[in-house]
Amino acid sequence: MKYFIGNWKMFGIPKSIEILNKINSFYSKDKNRNKYKVIFTPPYTLIESYSKYFKKKKINIGSQNCYQKDQFSSNTAAISSYMLRSVGAKYTLVGHSDNRSEGDTDSILKNKVYFALKNNLKVVFCVGENKTHKKNKKTFSVLKKQLTKVLERKFNKNNIIIAYEPIWSIGTGKIPSSQELTRTSSFIKKTLKNIFRSKSPPVLYGGSVDGNSVKLFKKINEIDGFLIGGASKSTKKFIDIIRNYYR
Ligand code: PGA
Repeated sequence: MKYFIGNWKMFGIPKSIEILNKINSFYSKDKNRNKYKVIFTPPYTLIESYSKYFKKKKINIGSQNCYQKDQFSSNTAAISSYMLRSVGAKYTLVGHSDNRSEGDTDSILKNKVYFALKNNLKVVFCVGENKTHKKNKKTFSVLKKQLTKVLERKFNKNNIIIAYEPIWSIGTGKIPSSQELTRTSSFIKKTLKNIFRSKSPPVLYGGSVDGNSVKLFKKINEIDGFLIGGASKSTKKFIDIIRNYYR
C-alpha cells in the first residue's frame, strides 16, 4: 500500500473543503485507487466537519499534531488524541520539524506516540536531519537517535508510518538525489527492523514533493509514499503527483 498524505499546515477554512472534494472525485474513480491511500491533515478547526463529510467517502482525515497527555488535562489550548479521535480523526502526524523546532523533545514525542496509539489513532512519525547535520555527515546518527529514542518494540507497528523529511528540503524546492534517498530510506528501514524485530513499517518521503519531483522518487522501491505540504493545497498539483507516480 502507498500513501499520499496532504499536510495543510496553517491553511484552510470551511469552504476549502472544495479542494478535497475534487481530489476525492478523482481518487474514487482512479483505476489505481486500490494501490494507495489519501489522507489529509487540515488544521484542528476543520477536523470535525471534514471527518463527517468524508466519513463514507475515500479520503481519510487526520490531525497535524496531538498533545502528550491522555484524554483531558489542564493545559491551555492543548488537544489530546482522545479528543481528536472523538471528532473523527483517524491519523495524526507526530514530530513534524515545525513542532520539533517549537520545543517537541524526544521524550515529549514518545508520549505523543504512546497516547495517540492508545486512543486508536494511526501515527505518522516524522524524522529528518537539518542542513548542518547533512553538511557534517551526521544524517544517519541523527535519524537513528530520532527513531530509537521515541519508538519502542511494544508499540503496535501496524499503526505506525514513518515520514522522512529532510528539513533542508521542506518548502525549499531542494530535493535529495535518488541515490541519497535510496541510501537513507534503506537505513531508516534497517533501523526500524531492529526496533520492532520484524518487517519495517512504511517509510514515506516528504520535502518539496510535486508533480515533477515525484517522477524521480517513484523509482525508489524503499519509499512507500509521500507527505506533501505546499502542493496539497491545490487540487491540480496534488492530483498531478498521484498521476505522475503511476504513469
Ligand atoms: P513541502 O512540505 O511539501 O511544502 O516541502 C512538506 C512538509 O512539511 O510536510
